[in-house]
Amino acid sequence: MEKVVEHFFIWRTDLKRLDELITPSSSSQVQTEIIQRTVGSHLNKTFPVFSEFNLRFCKHVIRLLENCNCEVQDEFYELIQQTLLISEKSESFKSYFLGSQTISLLEKPELISDGTTGLNTWTAGIHLTRWISSQPRTWLDGARVVELGAGAGITAIFTIKQFENVEEYIATDCHPLVLKNMSRNIELNLNREKNSRSVKYKVLNLDWESDEETRFAPDIVLGADIVFDPSLVPSLVSTISKLLCEKNGTAFICSTVRNEETYQGFLENLEQRYLRWSRISYESSDPVQILKINLES
Ligand SMILES: C[S@@+](CC[C@H](N)C(=O)[O-])C[C@H]1O[C@@H](n2cnc3c(N)ncnc32)[C@H](O)[C@@H]1O
Repeated sequence: MEKVVEHFFIWRTDLKRLDELITPSSSSQVQTEIIQRTVGSHLNKTFPVFSEFNLRFCKHVIRLLENCNCEVQDEFYELIQQTLLISEKSESFKSYFLGSQTISLLEKPELISDGTTGLNTWTAGIHLTRWISSQPRTWLDGARVVELGAGAGITAIFTIKQFENVEEYIATDCHPLVLKNMSRNIELNLNREKNSRSVKYKVLNLDWESDEETRFAPDIVLGADIVFDPSLVPSLVSTISKLLCEKNGTAFICSTVRNEETYQGFLENLEQRYLRWSRISYESSDPVQILKINLES
């Protein structure tokens, strides 16, 4: 059930696990639990998943129930009715369960929309956040953090909430809609906790290709899924190098290695800029790598 719920909130139907859950003997109890924890849950009412996905999910469950000759609870049909009334233009959220945190993010159904990839959460973003969650609570005490290509904001939100003594978190990106969406996501998630302390964070424009002078002086630089376009690699590496030089900081960059040549080009660019890198040990079934990057001493 846990995986079915986890996948539901990131708009994935776990057909295999649903199939295992729904059997003629367990159906009534299981139906109630599925409804209460997914389509009919408080989380789905507050931060609804994409309506088309909601419908698809209900239809899958109904089909599985029918296949084992179980009576389908009326609530499923009522929820389908309610979903059909939701406009296609309404906002949709994905919710991620990370340790004790639930992070709900306004995301788009398409991987690329409005000419950007930054309105979605990418696999490397989830992995970087998971890796960060395994660091000691004091890891970022007094640290200034700059995140590059922060997208929908998963890593920023998790880190700001988890590490109470971060000096400042600067989440950057280059697309106006991405910056706006990220700001909203950060506010939605931080304001969820009524007594949350005031966190020092900023959402700023930082385009790796721009010559604009910045001085953030970060102790830590973070980035997830920012190595994807070979033509952007030199400017990305130059940005990392400038940021690390300001305060002799350390970068942690998590990448999904889709193209070996592009990734190799990134590593070579780091070396040409006298940046030392090492791979962090991190287990995953996805082709992700996390690099720790420092200035050569
Ligand atoms: C694949 S997305 C990753 C988003 C997020 N880090 C994640 O893992 O979910 C790449 C991000 O890099 C940003 N980006 C692309 N080109 C950029 C540039 N020249 N300067 C700064 N950010 C850029 C995009 O706007 C997008 O948010």
